[in-house]
Amino acid sequence: MPSKNASIVAVFPGSFDPLTNGHLDLISRASRLSSKLVVAILSNDSKLPLFSVQERMDMIRESASLPDLEIESFEGLLVDFATSKGASMIVRGIRAVSDYEYELQMAHMNRRLRPDVETVFLMSREENSFVSSKLVKEVARLGGDVSGLVPPLVLERLLLKLNLHAAPMALPKG
Ligand code: PNS
Repeated sequence: MPSKNASIVAVFPGSFDPLTNGHLDLISRASRLSSKLVVAILSNDSKLPLFSVQERMDMIRESASLPDLEIESFEGLLVDFATSKGASMIVRGIRAVSDYEYELQMAHMNRRLRPDVETVFLMSREENSFVSSKLVKEVARLGGDVSGLVPPLVLERLLLKLNLHAAPMALPKG
């Protein structure tokens, strides 16, 4: 019989440019499945990120206050990073069928590279099923309201980064 793994280190990788409420939900659910969760931010300038790795790390650290959460950046192969952290699980979220094909390819490739690292998919919550960092940036850039799709501090930093100003809070009259 295969041995059971009592203490599971899991890696939740992504670009997180920026963190969304969808990511945040997956982080808290994945942390319940593991003894330690490592959020792994891909450090890849060829994707032309809006936020630096440090800024993305800060936003995650300040938004997700969970015990046993580690936030790191990585370069190179994800499975090599996972192995270096002693992780046996990669967690990815699936929002819709359209995510599935790409995720399946990555999971197969990662398994081929490292059969001992298992990819586990978590279904996004319905309310986050249309939320992506890419759309959030696009809508915010064009002046649309993305509050409720990202944590408040991410919204603030996004508007600052895009040189937009947050709508002033309504003040009581008089
Ligand atoms: O949030 P994203 O951009 O969809 O995350 C993609 C990510 C970071 C998981 C993927 O690009 C990745 O794992 N990159 C590291 C390089 C690698 O291992 N490539 C082979 C994966 S099959």
